[in-house]
Amino acid sequence: MPETRRAAPTLSARMERLGTESAFEVLARAKALEAAGRSIINLGIGQPNFPTPPHIVEASRKALADGHHGYTPANGILPLREAVVADLHRRHGVSVSPERVLVVPGGKVTMFFALMMFGEPGAEILYPNPGFPIYESVIRFSGATPVPIALHEAAGFSFSADEVLAKITSATRLIIINSPANPTGGAVSRRELDRLAAGLERHPQVAILSDEIYGEILYDGAEHVSLLRYPALAERVILLDGWSKTYAMTGWRLGYGIWPKALLHYAERLAINCHSCVNAAAQYAGIAALEGPRAPLAAMVAAFDERRKLITAGLNALPGVRCATPTGAFYAFPNIAGTGLEARTLENRLLEEAGVATIAGTSFGAFGKGYLRFSYAADTAAIGEALARIKTWLARNARA
Ligand SMILES: Cc1ncc(COP(=O)(O)O)c(C=O)c1O
Repeated sequence: MPETRRAAPTLSARMERLGTESAFEVLARAKALEAAGRSIINLGIGQPNFPTPPHIVEASRKALADGHHGYTPANGILPLREAVVADLHRRHGVSVSPERVLVVPGGKVTMFFALMMFGEPGAEILYPNPGFPIYESVIRFSGATPVPIALHEAAGFSFSADEVLAKITSATRLIIINSPANPTGGAVSRRELDRLAAGLERHPQVAILSDEIYGEILYDGAEHVSLLRYPALAERVILLDGWSKTYAMTGWRLGYGIWPKALLHYAERLAINCHSCVNAAAQYAGIAALEGPRAPLAAMVAAFDERRKLITAGLNALPGVRCATPTGAFYAFPNIAGTGLEARTLENRLLEEAGVATIAGTSFGAFGKGYLRFSYAADTAAIGEALARIKTWLARNARA
């Protein structure tokens, strides 16, 4: 009997356009090498290497013991939304109503919802490049055209408001801003944000997604200016923030968006269609994080600062490598063009041959060519050892 030919399932065309965040692939490869007995220093994935502070863990344990096992309102429990609002007031001096808060499973979800809301064929969405890879991935997935805002090393990886404004066309629906930034560690100054906000008054049809997930991780007295502070933009700024980075809670999957009133209904519908609500115990942990002591955060940022100085100095001492001093987040983004090696080659060979996981700059977009991202959310001993391994490896293999 001839075998019946089965047709393969027919996927939607958009599935071919979906990109990824290669930090997760590098993490999997690093884990596999470790499991095979290799010593790997992971400076790839962007997560604090600190435990979640104990008072936060305790709050979720108590929530479970108290019987918080069911669904919660789709937008999040009111005490958590009130805590978010109080935190925004403390940090930015802004008054937002708790109705505008949508609690979601991680920072990424606000991004996905905003891009699904505005993206479709024919629409243009501006995004930072190099930037968090999910921006470009989901813009393409939505069918919209990604329009890069190139970030340059010479400008401290900030942008010029005039350059951004010049890219706006009648098809522009949304602009993504991320400050402090992944992967560059750059932060946009108040001056440039003021200029952007003023210029956007001429383009009332354009919405803004402001990804401020690293807003509390800043150095050298750098100031974080939230786009929520601009009353003229209040009807069209979507704020993305969350607990992952600030409170060392990446695995809890807890984030929030502040939505303009007119968009809230759609964002909540997306939540109900997608995940119903966030894990109840995690929401109680989120309250403890926002209302509890600030000392664990201050200690974490102080530790990052020490590592930042160590890694920047160490990278600048490597042949063929030049590293701008990051002012925020926990990433260094050195220019590696002088080594004579492509970023992807360097990423692969440093992992396989030197046992150091990093991420090629091109994983963050075409303008990341010639750069490598290091996450310095690892202890100083690990960073020192990684730098020593890279130095030895470059001495054998690089052009410089
Ligand atoms: C710029 C930026 N936005 C959002 C996220 C997503 O955060 P979460 O893990 O809470 O989804 C990340 C995570 O690396 C990030 O770097």
